Order: sequence, then C-alpha cells, then structure tokens
Amino acid sequence: MSTMKLAVAGATGRLGRHVVDVLTERGHQVVPMSRATGVDIVTGAGLAEALAGADVIIDVASWHASEQEAATDFFRTSARNLHEYGRRAGVARIAVASIIGVGNATAGFLAAKKTHEELLLSGPLPVRILRAAQFHEFVGQLLDWQQGDVAYIPALPSQLVACRTVAGELADLALDPGEPAAGAPIPEIAGPRKETLAEAAALLGARRGVKVVGVDGSGMPDAEIAAEGGFLPGPHAKLAGPTFREWLDTQP
Ligand SMILES: NC(=O)c1ccc[n+]([C@@H]2O[C@H](COP(=O)([O-])OP(=O)(O)OC[C@H]3O[C@@H](n4cnc5c(N)ncnc54)[C@H](OP(=O)(O)O)[C@@H]3O)[C@@H](O)[C@H]2O)c1
Repeated sequence: MSTMKLAVAGATGRLGRHVVDVLTERGHQVVPMSRATGVDIVTGAGLAEALAGADVIIDVASWHASEQEAATDFFRTSARNLHEYGRRAGVARIAVASIIGVGNATAGFLAAKKTHEELLLSGPLPVRILRAAQFHEFVGQLLDWQQGDVAYIPALPSQLVACRTVAGELADLALDPGEPAAGAPIPEIAGPRKETLAEAAALLGARRGVKVVGVDGSGMPDAEIAAEGGFLPGPHAKLAGPTFREWLDTQP
C-alpha cells in the first residue's frame, strides 16, 4: 500500500496515541490534531492548516465528561467542522471510533455517541465507523474517579479491549478505499473475554491497594440494558487479545 497522509483528531488521547503509533509504524505520514498540538476541532482553529494535503481523517477525539447534552454539542460541532474543512481540503473519507451498543442507548454518553454517528453519516464525506468495546485503558479512569481505598464499580458485563488492538483495526478501516457491502453491519472490535467491569477493576485495584466492591450500576444511564448484555459485542464482532489480565501484566 502506498504511503498516505492521515490527520488524527484526538491524537493525544488514550486511543489516539496508539492510532498515531500504528500508522507511523506502517510508514504513513501522520498529522496529530488536538488542542495540545494547536488544532481545535470545535472552534476550527488550526484545522485548515492541519488538513492541507491529508488523504484521510481519523476521528478519535472525545468530550471529557459523561453528560449527554454537553457531549452531543461537542460531537455535533466537531462532526460539522471535520466534514466542512475536510471537504475543502479534498479529504477522501473520515474513519471514526464509536462504542459497541450505541444503537441500544437511550441516555448519557452512549446516546451522545449514537448522535455522533448519525451526524457524521449525514455529512458530505464518506464515513467509516468502527464500534469498540470499553478500553482496558478506561478501567484506571473508573478507579481515578473515586476517592479513598474502596472503589464502587458496576458489576456490569463487558468485553474489554486494548486500545492498541482497536487502533490497528481502525487503521485498517481508514486505509481501505473500498465501500462497505450494502446492508453490512457496522464493524465491531472487542476483547476475547467477557467479564464484569468490577472484576477487571479488582485486578487493577489489587495493584493500587484499592479494594473494589461490585455494585449493580443503578443510577447509571441504561444500567438495565447493560445488565442484559446490550453493550456486549454482536455475533459479527472481531474478538482480539490481549485479555485485561494479560494487558495489565505489560503495564509498568
Ligand atoms: N474510553 C473507552 O472505553 C471507549 C470505548 C469505545 C470507544 N471509545 C471512543 O474512542 C474515542 C477516543 O476515546 P478516548 O477514551 O481515547 O478519549 P480521550 O482519552 O478522552 O482523548 C480525547 C482526545 O480528544 C482531544 N480533544 C478534546 N477536545 C478537543 C478539541 N476541541 N479539539 C481537538 N481535539 C480535542 C484530546 O486532546 P486535547 O485535550 O489536547 O485537545 C484527546 O487527544 C472516542 O470517540 C470514544 O467515544 C472510547
């Protein structure tokens, strides 16, 4: 495959840094886009310059909090800007990371991501979506959000996946010029092992000296849907390691 120039929105994030690594290792030219690199996909500052000559945009930017309305505003504005500036720059397509199960979401961040998908799909450029399970890298964030040496984590089913694994899959999708087959389901990537968030968090908690207590998740948006497995991968999903435990063993 010939070398391409890819502009990565959210290049400094949990997933974004792995997307940059994967593309760079494959010999492609990467333009990292985040406010830290002087590019704001909400205000548009630096965006035209960053996209000059780019073949493809990868959107792995995210809003920092879980409230639905603010997250939706972020995704609405960023989707419009990536399409508008991307079209003017002659970009061929946008590839975006979404979350498994957003089609079932009725509230919260996942509902905002469902809107994000819809907004991106309604723009002028072709869009390729990859839905991922929760990241291994996200479990630490769940612990960070709690204080003290006991953490209350929902015992909801998940099939956690490593960001590096998602990044490889998203790079494949972004680089593929082909059209998805008509009626094909949105591709999904998840880890090899079904476990609850609390079980995974307990493994990390043991390293940090934090006791993890599994709770039922009530109070969380769509907890019932999650408990019934509504955010687990579908039968067409690609499952790929490492497991959470294997991944944790590689972390410093
Ligand atoms: N977390 C999960 O478990 C999970 C699971 C499946 C899918 N996803 C999806 O994967 C994507 C990446 O998630 P993540 O957890 O890697 O996100 P993250 O770690 O929170 O990173 C967010 C990135 O977006 C950038 N950003 C924020 N506001 C920006 C702005 N106005 N302009 C330009 N860049 C901006 C941030 O950099 P600056 O602060 O420097 O701007 C950062 O690079 C999201 O779409 C998310 O919904 C996440």
